[in-house]
Amino acid sequence: MIQPTEKNDDNDDIVQWVRNGIAVRVFGEAADASNSVAAEIASLIRQRADDGEQCILGLATGSTPVRVYRELIRLHREENLSMKNVVTFNLDEYFPMKPNAAQSYVRFMNEQLFDHVDISPDNIHIPDGTVTPDRVTEYCQQYEDAIDTAGGIDLQLLGIGRTGHVGFNEPGSEQASTTRLVRLCEITRTDAAKDFGGLEKTPQLAITMGVGTILRSRRIRLLAFGEHKSAIVERSVQGAISDSVPATYLHDHGNVEFVLDSAAASKLNPSTADVSH
Ligand code: PGA
Repeated sequence: MIQPTEKNDDNDDIVQWVRNGIAVRVFGEAADASNSVAAEIASLIRQRADDGEQCILGLATGSTPVRVYRELIRLHREENLSMKNVVTFNLDEYFPMKPNAAQSYVRFMNEQLFDHVDISPDNIHIPDGTVTPDRVTEYCQQYEDAIDTAGGIDLQLLGIGRTGHVGFNEPGSEQASTTRLVRLCEITRTDAAKDFGGLEKTPQLAITMGVGTILRSRRIRLLAFGEHKSAIVERSVQGAISDSVPATYLHDHGNVEFVLDSAAASKLNPSTADVSH
């Protein structure tokens, strides 16, 4: 297991290094990692507000980013963080999916973040799981266009699936892929099955931003916590770029950080780093 060895300014225990163009930041605890990313997001939102500009955030669902959202809510309540100038684009949604269903990512985002901050509902974008199949291609192009019209994503938050997916870009996804309807891998469906009351009730399909969509973001922050993510984190950071692990497409983007707890980082080998900090 990698032991945190350095201290940063806030006294969080972290180690960090760069491999394959990915800055790896390892915190002792997931809570400290989450607070660090939330602080970066808050700082970006405030900077944009001071400049009279909007801040465009790419957001993720799943268990991993929940603590980031909790900290943003705390900053809103206790430290005057306004999200009035924030525009959001979520990565993905199951298909088909009604927005009020228990497993919908619309519901997730409302409950975990949007209902608790002052973001304008007009500024929220989440792929629509109710689009009719004959309109999906057109809808996905509109989602891409909306991101471009907003000025592109300033900071994209990502989790990572055990398949190496980012968003729902499963193995086999192309580097230049854009928002589209995709088929979910069995591993991904198995991991989601508990939310749907069994594998047979778990959707086969989803709408996801593409790898190319994600790579157009100006900053990318991928969070991974827990021992069960350690093998895919190791392949994503230290493996060669390959469509069999879509997260490897993040190499050499230029502004990607993997923000990990020590369990998720436990299979990484910092001595192979390109650059140490
Ligand atoms: P998780 O999902 O945060 O629930 O582990 C991550 C993902 O599948 O991208």
